[in-house]
Amino acid sequence: MNQKSPAILTIDDESLIRESFRLYLEDCGYQVQEAENGRVGLDMIHKSLPDLVLLDLRMPEIDGLDVLQEVRENYPDLPIIVISGTGFIGDAVEAMKRGAWSYLLKPIADFNTLRHAVEQSLEKARLIVENRNCREKLEEKLRLRAQALERSNQLLRDTRMQVILRLGKAAEFRDKGTGRHVIRVSCYTKILANCMGFSEEDADVMALGSALHDVGKIGISDSILLKPGKLSPEEWEEMKKHCLYGRDLLTPLSVEDEEGFTSEVGGTLGGIISDSDLLQMSRVVAYSHHEHWDGSGYPQGLKGDEIPVVARIVTAVDIYDAIGSKRPYKAPYCEEKCLQIMREASGTILDPEVVKIFFDSLDLLQQIKAKWAD
Ligand SMILES: [Fe+2]
Ligand SMILES: [Fe+2]
Repeated sequence: MNQKSPAILTIDDESLIRESFRLYLEDCGYQVQEAENGRVGLDMIHKSLPDLVLLDLRMPEIDGLDVLQEVRENYPDLPIIVISGTGFIGDAVEAMKRGAWSYLLKPIADFNTLRHAVEQSLEKARLIVENRNCREKLEEKLRLRAQALERSNQLLRDTRMQVILRLGKAAEFRDKGTGRHVIRVSCYTKILANCMGFSEEDADVMALGSALHDVGKIGISDSILLKPGKLSPEEWEEMKKHCLYGRDLLTPLSVEDEEGFTSEVGGTLGGIISDSDLLQMSRVVAYSHHEHWDGSGYPQGLKGDEIPVVARIVTAVDIYDAIGSKRPYKAPYCEEKCLQIMREASGTILDPEVVKIFFDSLDLLQQIKAKWAD
């Protein structure tokens, strides 16, 4: 509605009626325009949209009901009050059906009725506009909030990924790795998980979790971890404990730890200490990536399907990557030898199904191997 006084268009073929409406409504403070038939009325509406229309039904050129129809199609919220002298109930019903907001009978005995109908319709139109503006503002606010939330979620995902990868690399740096072993293992894990039919989301969690498979090596002393020669049986037992250290490191913090952190450092650990899917996945991988299909592995000596599937995948890709990489105690094997070892490990160290999928996806794996070579 305009700031200035509302504009009303009265469409009626009887000039006396138009004039009486105009004089009365102008006295009430409205601007009033007149149209002598439906055609002129429609032209005026299209040219300068009024705030309200008073519409006769029986008119030459274009009948009031047709005017109603056309206005409704083009200006669904324009208030129209039908004022007709026909007195047929059918006309009133049809006018309301076609979108009239109100229906008055001619002659109008008390002009207060007209004034009341006009005021009511203008108020309703104002509320419709106000409502729509509020809704649009609200929708815009919600849209911006959703965008901000998505941005912070993305930031959180990125940060989580960075922290996990860096922690995995930190562990690898200790035994003079380049950090690329964890990247390759993660990529290989994702490829195999995808080929095994895991959802994209699960494959991502498995891939990221696999980056921490050897994080427990942080707890192994340099004299053992970096020893160039063969480990003694005692040293080997200690080395095997990296699976337990990894599991413990990735176990959710205790309430005591959390209280200590929040009281000394401030803030809250919130989601960080919660046992997220990623933390669980990493823990499973760290604990079980040296289990063997035939039960000859460690630390639990699990067998076959007892070994979590993600650990079976990581065991395979970890071995493939380790035998193809340079280590303090050995030169890298050529690809042919690596594949031969993988084939031979099927059903003993490795899950035959995982090995089958490994060979099915070999092209993709080798692309990663070349791209992320040390
Ligand atoms: Fe390991
Ligand atoms: Fe490894």
